[in-house]
Amino acid sequence: MYSGILSCVIFAARSLNRMQPNVVRTEVFEFDNRSMDRQNNMERAAQLIQEGKLVAFPTETVYGLGANALDPMAVAKIFALKERPSFDPLIIHIADLEDLKKLTSEIDERVYLLAENFWPGSLTLVLPKSNRVPDIVTSGLPTVGIRMPANEIARELIRKSGCPIAAPSANKFGRISPTKADHVKKQLPDVDCILDGGKTTVGIESTIIELIEKGFRILRNGIITKEDIESVLPFDETEKTESIVAPGMVKSHYSPVKKMMVADESFRMDIDKSKAGLISFSGKYETGFQKVIRVSETNDLKEYAVNMFEAMHTFEDDIEIDIIIAEPVAETGIGKAIMDRLRKAEYNWRKD
Ligand code: TXA
Ligand code: MG
Repeated sequence: MYSGILSCVIFAARSLNRMQPNVVRTEVFEFDNRSMDRQNNMERAAQLIQEGKLVAFPTETVYGLGANALDPMAVAKIFALKERPSFDPLIIHIADLEDLKKLTSEIDERVYLLAENFWPGSLTLVLPKSNRVPDIVTSGLPTVGIRMPANEIARELIRKSGCPIAAPSANKFGRISPTKADHVKKQLPDVDCILDGGKTTVGIESTIIELIEKGFRILRNGIITKEDIESVLPFDETEKTESIVAPGMVKSHYSPVKKMMVADESFRMDIDKSKAGLISFSGKYETGFQKVIRVSETNDLKEYAVNMFEAMHTFEDDIEIDIIIAEPVAETGIGKAIMDRLRKAEYNWRKD
Protein backbone atom coordinates (compact mmCIF):
# COMPACT_ATOMS: atom_id res chain seq x y z
CA MET A 1 0.00 0.00 0.00
CA TYR A 2 2.74 2.44 1.06
CA SER A 3 4.97 1.63 -1.93
CA GLY A 4 1.98 2.04 -4.27
CA ILE A 5 1.37 5.61 -3.08
CA LEU A 6 5.07 6.37 -3.21
CA SER A 7 5.40 5.09 -6.77
CA CYS A 8 2.44 7.31 -7.82
CA VAL A 9 4.05 10.41 -6.30
CA ILE A 10 7.38 9.67 -7.97
CA PHE A 11 5.62 8.92 -11.28
CA ALA A 12 3.86 12.30 -11.04
CA ALA A 13 7.15 14.07 -10.33
CA ARG A 14 8.80 12.27 -13.26
CA SER A 15 5.97 13.23 -15.63
CA LEU A 16 6.27 16.83 -14.49
CA ASN A 17 9.98 16.74 -15.29
CA ARG A 18 9.21 15.39 -18.77
CA MET A 19 6.51 17.95 -19.48
CA GLN A 20 8.94 20.82 -19.05
CA PRO A 21 12.13 19.55 -20.65
CA ASN A 22 13.41 22.92 -21.80
CA VAL A 23 12.01 25.08 -19.06
CA VAL A 24 14.61 23.98 -16.56
CA ARG A 25 17.82 25.90 -16.88
CA THR A 26 20.39 25.03 -14.30
CA GLU A 27 21.67 27.95 -12.25
CA VAL A 28 25.33 27.33 -11.41
CA PHE A 29 26.95 29.38 -8.63
CA GLU A 30 30.66 29.22 -8.00
CA PHE A 31 31.78 29.48 -4.43
CA ASP A 32 35.30 30.52 -3.77
CA ASN A 33 36.68 33.01 -1.31
CA ARG A 34 36.92 35.74 -3.94
CA SER A 35 33.31 35.47 -4.97
CA MET A 36 31.57 38.81 -4.44
CA ASP A 37 28.17 37.26 -4.89
CA ARG A 38 28.50 34.56 -2.30
CA GLN A 39 25.76 35.95 -0.10
CA ASN A 40 23.32 36.53 -2.97
CA ASN A 41 24.00 33.14 -4.48
CA MET A 42 23.45 31.39 -1.19
CA GLU A 43 20.20 33.25 -0.68
CA ARG A 44 19.03 32.32 -4.16
CA ALA A 45 19.87 28.64 -3.59
CA ALA A 46 18.05 28.67 -0.24
CA GLN A 47 15.04 30.29 -1.93
CA LEU A 48 14.99 27.46 -4.50
CA ILE A 49 15.02 24.88 -1.68
CA GLN A 50 12.11 26.70 0.00
CA GLU A 51 10.21 26.63 -3.31
CA GLY A 52 10.53 22.85 -3.46
CA LYS A 53 13.28 22.81 -6.12
CA LEU A 54 16.44 20.71 -6.27
CA VAL A 55 19.86 22.14 -5.45
CA ALA A 56 23.06 20.13 -5.89
CA PHE A 57 25.65 21.15 -3.32
CA PRO A 58 29.10 20.08 -2.17
CA THR A 59 29.64 18.09 0.99
CA GLU A 60 33.10 16.96 2.07
CA THR A 61 32.30 13.42 0.84
CA VAL A 62 30.54 13.77 -2.53
CA TYR A 63 28.07 16.25 -4.04
CA GLY A 64 24.50 15.83 -2.82
CA LEU A 65 21.20 16.38 -4.67
CA GLY A 66 19.25 18.35 -2.09
CA ALA A 67 15.61 19.13 -1.38
CA ASN A 68 13.60 20.26 1.63
CA ALA A 69 13.43 17.05 3.68
CA LEU A 70 10.05 18.00 5.14
CA ASP A 71 8.38 18.54 1.74
CA PRO A 72 7.30 15.18 0.23
CA MET A 73 6.74 16.59 -3.29
CA ALA A 74 10.23 18.12 -3.34
CA VAL A 75 11.71 14.82 -2.15
CA ALA A 76 9.78 12.96 -4.86
CA LYS A 77 11.62 15.08 -7.44
CA ILE A 78 14.93 13.71 -6.16
CA PHE A 79 13.79 10.13 -6.83
CA ALA A 80 12.50 11.13 -10.25
CA LEU A 81 15.60 13.05 -11.40
CA LYS A 82 17.99 10.40 -10.10
CA GLU A 83 15.83 7.56 -11.45
CA ARG A 84 16.20 6.04 -8.02
CA PRO A 85 13.97 3.19 -6.86
CA SER A 86 11.52 4.15 -4.13
CA PHE A 87 12.84 1.46 -1.74
CA ASP A 88 16.17 3.23 -1.32
CA PRO A 89 15.92 5.76 1.56
CA LEU A 90 17.63 9.16 1.70
CA ILE A 91 19.97 10.69 4.26
CA ILE A 92 18.91 13.95 5.92
CA HIS A 93 21.56 16.65 6.39
CA ILE A 94 21.48 19.01 9.35
CA ALA A 95 23.56 22.04 10.34
CA ASP A 96 22.98 22.15 14.09
CA LEU A 97 22.50 19.53 16.77
CA GLU A 98 19.15 21.09 17.65
CA ASP A 99 17.75 19.81 14.32
CA LEU A 100 18.42 16.23 15.42
CA LYS A 101 15.72 16.36 18.08
CA LYS A 102 13.06 17.33 15.57
CA LEU A 103 13.84 14.45 13.25
CA THR A 104 14.23 11.57 15.70
CA SER A 105 11.93 10.01 18.26
CA GLU A 106 14.65 8.72 20.58
CA ILE A 107 18.14 9.97 21.21
CA ASP A 108 20.29 8.21 23.75
CA GLU A 109 23.53 9.58 25.11
CA ARG A 110 25.61 7.52 22.66
CA VAL A 111 24.28 9.69 19.86
CA TYR A 112 25.64 12.82 21.54
CA LEU A 113 28.93 11.06 22.14
CA LEU A 114 29.23 10.20 18.45
CA ALA A 115 28.11 13.67 17.40
CA GLU A 116 30.70 15.25 19.67
CA ASN A 117 33.47 13.10 18.20
CA PHE A 118 32.54 12.89 14.52
CA TRP A 119 30.24 15.80 13.60
CA PRO A 120 30.45 17.85 11.57
CA GLY A 121 31.84 15.02 9.45
CA SER A 122 31.30 11.98 7.29
CA LEU A 123 29.38 9.75 9.67
CA THR A 124 25.68 9.01 9.13
CA LEU A 125 23.63 7.72 12.06
CA VAL A 126 20.54 5.61 11.45
CA LEU A 127 18.08 6.50 14.23
CA PRO A 128 14.37 6.04 15.02
CA LYS A 129 12.49 8.68 13.03
CA SER A 130 9.99 11.22 14.31
CA ASN A 131 6.57 11.79 12.72
CA ARG A 132 7.85 14.97 11.10
CA VAL A 133 9.99 13.00 8.65
CA PRO A 134 7.89 12.13 5.59
CA ASP A 135 7.75 8.42 4.71
CA ILE A 136 9.04 9.10 1.23
CA VAL A 137 12.42 10.12 2.73
CA THR A 138 12.86 6.84 4.60
CA SER A 139 11.12 4.59 2.04
CA GLY A 140 8.59 3.74 4.72
CA LEU A 141 11.19 2.59 7.29
CA PRO A 142 10.80 3.55 10.96
CA THR A 143 14.40 4.81 10.96
CA VAL A 144 16.12 7.79 9.35
CA GLY A 145 19.76 8.37 8.35
CA ILE A 146 21.10 11.73 9.58
CA ARG A 147 24.41 13.49 9.23
CA MET A 148 25.94 16.92 9.79
CA PRO A 149 28.32 17.56 6.88
CA ALA A 150 31.69 19.19 7.48
CA ASN A 151 31.50 21.31 4.32
CA GLU A 152 30.66 24.92 5.21
CA ILE A 153 28.74 25.62 2.00
CA ALA A 154 26.49 22.67 2.83
CA ARG A 155 25.81 23.85 6.37
CA GLU A 156 25.24 27.44 5.25
CA LEU A 157 22.69 26.23 2.68
CA ILE A 158 20.84 24.22 5.34
CA ARG A 159 20.76 27.17 7.76
CA LYS A 160 19.67 29.69 5.11
CA SER A 161 16.99 27.33 3.80
CA GLY A 162 15.57 26.98 7.31
CA CYS A 163 14.94 23.25 6.91
CA PRO A 164 16.87 20.00 7.01
CA ILE A 165 17.96 18.87 3.55
CA ALA A 166 17.45 15.36 2.22
CA ALA A 167 20.19 14.47 -0.24
CA PRO A 168 21.51 11.37 -1.94
CA SER A 169 24.69 11.57 -3.98
CA ALA A 170 24.04 13.76 -7.05
CA ASN A 171 24.37 11.10 -9.74
CA LYS A 172 21.96 8.89 -11.71
CA PHE A 173 21.10 5.80 -9.69
CA GLY A 174 23.87 3.21 -9.89
CA ARG A 175 26.36 5.47 -11.64
CA ILE A 176 29.66 7.07 -10.55
CA SER A 177 29.38 9.44 -7.60
CA PRO A 178 30.24 13.13 -8.21
CA THR A 179 33.19 14.81 -6.54
CA LYS A 180 33.07 17.93 -8.74
CA ALA A 181 30.29 20.19 -10.04
CA ASP A 182 31.10 19.05 -13.61
CA HIS A 183 30.29 15.46 -12.65
CA VAL A 184 26.86 16.62 -11.49
CA LYS A 185 26.27 18.55 -14.74
CA LYS A 186 27.21 15.49 -16.78
CA GLN A 187 24.65 13.20 -15.16
CA LEU A 188 21.92 15.61 -14.02
CA PRO A 189 21.80 18.41 -16.61
CA ASP A 190 18.21 19.27 -15.59
CA VAL A 191 18.88 20.00 -11.94
CA ASP A 192 17.58 23.46 -10.91
CA CYS A 193 20.81 24.70 -9.33
CA ILE A 194 24.38 23.60 -8.64
CA LEU A 195 26.58 25.15 -5.97
CA ASP A 196 30.11 24.68 -7.24
CA GLY A 197 32.40 24.40 -4.23
CA GLY A 198 35.31 22.78 -6.06
CA LYS A 199 36.50 19.23 -5.59
CA THR A 200 35.32 17.43 -2.46
CA THR A 201 37.96 16.72 0.16
CA VAL A 202 37.04 13.17 1.27
CA GLY A 203 35.88 11.79 -2.06
CA ILE A 204 33.76 8.81 -0.95
CA GLU A 205 30.39 8.66 0.78
CA SER A 206 29.94 8.77 4.54
CA THR A 207 30.22 5.80 6.86
CA ILE A 208 26.72 4.68 7.87
CA ILE A 209 26.13 3.05 11.24
CA GLU A 210 23.20 1.82 13.22
CA LEU A 211 23.17 1.71 17.01
CA ILE A 212 22.26 -1.61 18.55
CA GLU A 213 21.94 -2.72 22.12
CA LYS A 214 25.54 -3.77 22.53
CA GLY A 215 27.22 -1.13 20.41
CA PHE A 216 26.97 -0.33 16.71
CA ARG A 217 27.09 -2.01 13.35
CA ILE A 218 28.30 -0.68 10.04
CA LEU A 219 25.91 -0.48 7.10
CA ARG A 220 28.37 1.26 4.75
CA ASN A 221 32.12 1.71 5.15
CA GLY A 222 33.68 5.13 4.69
CA ILE A 223 36.64 7.24 5.66
CA ILE A 224 35.63 7.04 9.33
CA THR A 225 36.57 3.44 10.08
CA LYS A 226 35.26 0.83 12.48
CA GLU A 227 38.43 1.39 14.52
CA ASP A 228 37.79 5.15 14.71
CA ILE A 229 34.27 4.58 16.02
CA GLU A 230 35.43 1.82 18.38
CA SER A 231 37.57 4.36 20.18
CA VAL A 232 34.27 5.87 21.35
CA LEU A 233 31.76 2.96 21.34
CA PRO A 234 32.16 -0.84 21.42
CA PHE A 235 31.59 -2.75 18.17
CA ASP A 236 29.35 -5.76 18.49
CA GLU A 237 31.39 -8.70 17.18
CA THR A 238 28.41 -11.03 17.43
CA GLU A 239 26.64 -9.12 14.67
CA LYS A 240 27.97 -10.04 11.25
CA THR A 241 28.25 -6.75 9.40
CA GLU A 242 28.24 -8.39 5.98
CA SER A 243 24.82 -9.92 6.54
CA ILE A 244 23.27 -6.55 7.27
CA VAL A 245 22.14 -4.89 4.09
CA ALA A 246 20.96 -1.30 4.01
CA PRO A 247 17.94 -1.04 1.72
CA GLY A 248 19.84 0.64 -1.07
CA MET A 249 22.92 -1.52 -0.83
CA VAL A 250 22.81 -3.25 -4.16
CA LYS A 251 25.66 -5.29 -5.61
CA SER A 252 26.19 -3.01 -8.58
CA HIS A 253 26.73 0.69 -7.92
CA TYR A 254 29.15 3.56 -8.62
CA SER A 255 29.40 2.15 -12.11
CA PRO A 256 31.02 3.71 -15.20
CA VAL A 257 29.30 3.23 -18.57
CA LYS A 258 32.53 1.65 -19.79
CA LYS A 259 33.87 -1.75 -18.86
CA MET A 260 35.62 -1.67 -15.52
CA MET A 261 37.70 -4.26 -13.68
CA VAL A 262 39.58 -4.40 -10.43
CA ALA A 263 42.74 -6.22 -11.45
CA ASP A 264 45.28 -7.67 -9.11
CA GLU A 265 49.01 -7.31 -9.38
CA SER A 266 49.49 -9.94 -12.06
CA PHE A 267 47.48 -8.09 -14.74
CA ARG A 268 47.71 -11.35 -16.64
CA MET A 269 44.22 -11.24 -18.00
CA ASP A 270 43.47 -10.85 -21.61
CA ILE A 271 43.14 -7.10 -21.99
CA ASP A 272 44.38 -4.78 -24.67
CA LYS A 273 46.38 -2.31 -22.57
CA SER A 274 46.55 0.10 -25.50
CA LYS A 275 42.85 0.82 -24.93
CA ALA A 276 42.94 0.64 -21.16
CA GLY A 277 43.16 3.33 -18.49
CA LEU A 278 44.77 2.36 -15.20
CA ILE A 279 43.79 3.82 -11.85
CA SER A 280 47.15 3.27 -10.20
CA PHE A 281 47.92 3.32 -6.49
CA SER A 282 51.34 1.78 -5.94
CA GLY A 283 52.83 2.88 -9.26
CA LYS A 284 54.18 -0.64 -9.84
CA TYR A 285 52.05 -1.81 -12.75
CA GLU A 286 51.83 1.17 -15.06
CA THR A 287 53.78 -0.11 -18.09
CA GLY A 288 51.91 -0.48 -21.35
CA PHE A 289 48.67 1.25 -20.43
CA GLN A 290 47.22 3.84 -22.80
CA LYS A 291 46.71 6.20 -19.85
CA VAL A 292 47.49 6.10 -16.17
CA ILE A 293 46.03 8.15 -13.35
CA ARG A 294 48.14 7.85 -10.22
CA VAL A 295 45.78 8.49 -7.32
CA SER A 296 48.52 8.94 -4.73
CA GLU A 297 52.24 9.68 -4.95
CA THR A 298 52.77 8.62 -1.35
CA ASN A 299 50.76 5.39 -0.99
CA ASP A 300 48.15 7.20 1.03
CA LEU A 301 44.73 5.50 1.08
CA LYS A 302 43.00 8.78 1.87
CA GLU A 303 44.25 10.09 -1.46
CA TYR A 304 42.93 6.99 -3.22
CA ALA A 305 39.52 7.81 -1.74
CA VAL A 306 39.75 11.49 -2.72
CA ASN A 307 40.75 10.79 -6.33
CA MET A 308 39.02 7.48 -7.16
CA PHE A 309 35.65 8.69 -8.50
CA GLU A 310 37.27 11.57 -10.40
CA ALA A 311 39.61 9.09 -12.12
CA MET A 312 36.63 6.92 -13.08
CA HIS A 313 34.84 9.97 -14.53
CA THR A 314 37.95 11.03 -16.47
CA PHE A 315 38.32 7.62 -18.11
CA GLU A 316 34.58 7.34 -18.72
CA ASP A 317 34.76 10.58 -20.73
CA ASP A 318 37.97 9.68 -22.61
CA ILE A 319 37.33 8.37 -26.12
CA GLU A 320 40.73 6.62 -26.23
CA ILE A 321 39.77 4.42 -23.30
CA ASP A 322 37.56 1.32 -23.67
CA ILE A 323 38.26 -0.33 -20.36
CA ILE A 324 39.05 0.99 -16.89
CA ILE A 325 41.34 -1.03 -14.64
CA ALA A 326 41.62 -0.17 -10.95
CA GLU A 327 44.39 -1.36 -8.68
CA PRO A 328 43.08 -3.13 -5.58
CA VAL A 329 44.24 -2.46 -2.01
CA ALA A 330 44.15 -4.47 1.20
CA GLU A 331 40.71 -4.50 2.78
CA THR A 332 41.60 -3.01 6.12
CA GLY A 333 40.85 0.45 7.52
CA ILE A 334 40.01 2.90 4.71
CA GLY A 335 40.89 0.12 2.24
CA LYS A 336 37.55 -1.53 3.09
CA ALA A 337 35.60 1.50 1.91
CA ILE A 338 37.70 1.82 -1.27
CA MET A 339 37.33 -1.86 -2.19
CA ASP A 340 33.58 -1.74 -1.50
CA ARG A 341 33.22 1.03 -4.13
CA LEU A 342 35.54 -0.64 -6.66
CA ARG A 343 33.87 -4.07 -6.37
CA LYS A 344 30.44 -2.57 -6.89
CA ALA A 345 31.67 -0.44 -9.81
CA GLU A 346 33.01 -3.51 -11.64
CA TYR A 347 30.14 -5.84 -10.67
CA ASN A 348 28.13 -5.67 -13.89
CA TRP A 349 31.22 -6.17 -16.01
CA ARG A 350 32.50 -9.22 -14.15
CA LYS A 351 29.52 -11.15 -15.33
CA ASP A 352 30.51 -11.04 -19.00
O1 TXA B 1 28.31 11.04 2.10
C1 TXA B 1 27.14 10.76 1.91
O2 TXA B 1 26.51 9.99 2.67
C2 TXA B 1 26.45 11.37 0.70
C3 TXA B 1 26.41 12.89 0.87
C4 TXA B 1 25.64 13.60 -0.20
O3 TXA B 1 25.92 13.18 2.15
N1 TXA B 1 25.13 10.85 0.52
C5 TXA B 1 24.90 9.59 0.08
O4 TXA B 1 23.56 9.29 -0.09
O5 TXA B 1 25.78 8.80 -0.17
P1 TXA B 1 23.07 8.03 -0.94
O6 TXA B 1 21.61 8.17 -0.99
O7 TXA B 1 23.79 7.98 -2.22
O8 TXA B 1 23.42 6.82 -0.02
C6 TXA B 1 22.76 6.70 1.23
C7 TXA B 1 22.60 5.28 1.63
C8 TXA B 1 21.60 4.53 0.78
O9 TXA B 1 22.21 3.42 0.17
C9 TXA B 1 20.53 4.08 1.74
O10 TXA B 1 20.16 2.75 1.52
C10 TXA B 1 21.18 4.24 3.11
O11 TXA B 1 22.06 5.29 2.95
N2 TXA B 1 20.15 4.63 4.09
C11 TXA B 1 19.49 5.80 4.17
N3 TXA B 1 18.58 5.77 5.17
C12 TXA B 1 18.68 4.55 5.75
C13 TXA B 1 18.00 3.90 6.82
N4 TXA B 1 17.03 4.50 7.50
N5 TXA B 1 18.37 2.64 7.13
C14 TXA B 1 19.37 2.03 6.44
N6 TXA B 1 20.03 2.58 5.40
C15 TXA B 1 19.69 3.81 5.06
MG1 MG C 1 24.82 7.24 -3.83
